[in-house]
Amino acid sequence: MRISLGLLAFPVAVTAIENGINGWLRYAPLPAHQRPSNLRLPGAIMALSNNKTSPVYTAGQELQAGIKSILNQTLPLYHEPDEWLGSTILVATTGEFYGRQNGDVKASATLADDGYLLRVRAGNVVILGQTERGALYGAFDYLSRIAQGRFSDADLVSNPDAPIRWVNQWDNMDGSIERGYAGPSIFFSNNAIPKNLNRVTQYARLLASIGINGIIVNNVNANANLLTDANIDGLGRIADAMRPYGVQVGISLNFASPQTLGGLSTFDPLDAKVISWWTDKTKRLYKRIPDMAGYLVKANSEGQPGPLTYNRTLADGANLFAKAVQPHGGIVMFRAFVYDNHINPADLKADRANHAVEFFKELDGQFMDNVVVQIKYGPIDFQVREPASPLFANIPQTNTAIELQITQEYLGHQDHLVYIAPLWKTILDFDLRADDQPSLVRDVIAGRRFSNKHGGYAGVVNVGTNTTWLGSHLAMSNLYAFGRLAWDPTQDSQVLLEDWTRLTFGSDPLVLGVITEISMASWPAYENYTGNLGIQTLTDILYTHYGPNPASQDNNGWGQWTRADRYGIGMDRTVSTGTGFSGQYPAEVAEKFESIETTPDDLLLWFHHVNYTHILKSGKSVIQHFYDAHYDGAKTAQTFPIAWESLRKKVDTDRFNEVLFRLRYQAGHSIVWRDSICQFYYNLSGIPDAAGRVGKHEYRIEAETMTLKNYKLTGVNPVETASNLTAVVLTSNSGEASAKLNFDSGKYDVAINYFDLIGGKAKYKAYLNSKLLLEWTGDLEDKLGHAFSTKLDGHSATRVTVRDVQIQKGDVLKITGVADGNELAPLDYVAILPQGVVD
Ligand code: GCU
Repeated sequence: MRISLGLLAFPVAVTAIENGINGWLRYAPLPAHQRPSNLRLPGAIMALSNNKTSPVYTAGQELQAGIKSILNQTLPLYHEPDEWLGSTILVATTGEFYGRQNGDVKASATLADDGYLLRVRAGNVVILGQTERGALYGAFDYLSRIAQGRFSDADLVSNPDAPIRWVNQWDNMDGSIERGYAGPSIFFSNNAIPKNLNRVTQYARLLASIGINGIIVNNVNANANLLTDANIDGLGRIADAMRPYGVQVGISLNFASPQTLGGLSTFDPLDAKVISWWTDKTKRLYKRIPDMAGYLVKANSEGQPGPLTYNRTLADGANLFAKAVQPHGGIVMFRAFVYDNHINPADLKADRANHAVEFFKELDGQFMDNVVVQIKYGPIDFQVREPASPLFANIPQTNTAIELQITQEYLGHQDHLVYIAPLWKTILDFDLRADDQPSLVRDVIAGRRFSNKHGGYAGVVNVGTNTTWLGSHLAMSNLYAFGRLAWDPTQDSQVLLEDWTRLTFGSDPLVLGVITEISMASWPAYENYTGNLGIQTLTDILYTHYGPNPASQDNNGWGQWTRADRYGIGMDRTVSTGTGFSGQYPAEVAEKFESIETTPDDLLLWFHHVNYTHILKSGKSVIQHFYDAHYDGAKTAQTFPIAWESLRKKVDTDRFNEVLFRLRYQAGHSIVWRDSICQFYYNLSGIPDAAGRVGKHEYRIEAETMTLKNYKLTGVNPVETASNLTAVVLTSNSGEASAKLNFDSGKYDVAINYFDLIGGKAKYKAYLNSKLLLEWTGDLEDKLGHAFSTKLDGHSATRVTVRDVQIQKGDVLKITGVADGNELAPLDYVAILPQGVVD
């Protein structure tokens, strides 16, 4: 008799310190009031596999450890049916189950690949998977139910909507991560694959629990050295570490590898030597990783090599790899993110948004069966709002997958809370009306609409070594929702969020309420205080994609343009007078976007160039909408830390404090966003804010007007990222700025805006008369994950706030600064805010 007790690769019991490492798989002990008094658990777990690398075996271990942790009951775990004759939680593949006994569960016919059946009835539990990992998915579903206190009987079949449910890591071999905000890579360090891959296994566990079945482990901007023999072995170890969870490993390729690594004179995809070089590499890879998922290819995009160099088509390029992996059952994900990044902004007909369809439409039907074209959700690049990419409707004979970004490249780098599922849903649920028939994006990528075999979802995740995985506890709801939506895109984003919250923070109604409220408000708020009406995230697109810099959005070769001038704003993408982009959609949709009248306000400036005075459907002018939305968005963000504070006794101290710190930071940075954008468009248009707010800050004291000792005035770039366009920096090692407060006596919040750069950790103290109000260090680079700047700009501009300060008219506020490195203790302004005032 084989019984394994507690043989898990790593413990899943709730750690004393909630550092986020187990994500939503904490399996926290269920509070007594959530356990039914008549709870009857089966007597044992029966996982029908003796193979330790099988997900069925893993499922047994997960069930055992999870039930121990949630319910404090240790169920014995068996792997052979004759080892236990009592009631069981049985987990198996349908093949194994039907092969061994004549059970009454007749589900195999309705199960799709990776699907599972879950039957909970009268103390017996049956979990059957069509595949081994399907059985594991069923086990995770069952555990998720009991972790949320749901013990009711169940009898269900759950099938994934699409076969490809992958994540993409943008990890570099030196251990850095492109657009990663959670520390260095768990997959690479020092140009090799590390020995200890525990974190990789833990990641696979999280991924499997939400139905993810594949991962690309390296950056799309790929390094050819990944294909050396030593690294192929390293990749093999990664695959070994993830296999027990059913997550198949794939890699990104560099198109020029035969030349740069292989020493050939060419990388022409039709050259016989090149073909045999790739065939050989592929064989070696499959020898070490027989279940390798396949390849991901970024070609002829942003300087990456590709087939166009040799006047070959993108299909020639994709098929080169498709042929190599075909005998091994592999898939090639070929990215549609192909565009010219040296477009002439003076050309009013030029439009980067057109490029994907221009490149791919004529290739429809030329891709091999095992090629999937991976399409970013919108035509530009993960902006805060985009229309669905028209490419989904233009290549019906080609397999397609949607590329979503969990990593918040344009959405606040995980330092702003932005729950993205509602944004994804706007795309997945969008009806492209191909041939005037219902053509939801989710039906296209599932292969249903155009009868394609492969297809699905790719999510850019970029987890790092930070114990929270994404750098922020709350950002993990995005990863959770991504997996759940890839499994079933019809699910409601709030329902997914609530499941995640119960699993991650428990079922207390207040906790659930607050996290739901702030998360659901977060994307609309972020859109409001960054870029609205379809103008894109108005961030610095030439630098770190984080803080505000609307001017950077025009006159660049990247084609991310807003066409803003003194009179108007927006890209004219119509067929009649603009770039013709709207004509890339099927007729019904094209017609809708062609006309200003039928384009929804939230995409107006994506499709049309209008005057700032243009009146929206809401009745407001465009410029007034800009002002109002930015004020509204920032106001909403102020409510996040306040709402979170109500959970002080309800959430463990570590997570409570970490989340509070970030939400406070976000509230401050949302004001930076608001003011920068409003000031920029006010400067440009000269049209004042009807509500009189923009540029007028009655409760602020600008640092440049304070009495300065060893401080001098300085400009910032972009200018509008400092209040009154000016900041101050130290002229020697230390100095001070002080001001007499001429406000009526009373209780105020004191906000201090300053700049926090990389390259130094300045020290600050704020005093009211001689009383120390606050002491802080410019060390956000240690505490937050966003891409930091070396300059005074919209990325480094930030705020600290001291609440409820009793101030007497005539009191003196003094801030002292001590420089460190290149951080010259920069200050922007102080705001003395009466209760309830946001500014
Ligand atoms: C964006 C992003 C790059 C990334 C690219 C891609 O441009 O900023 O870092 O490499 O997308 O998706 O290929």
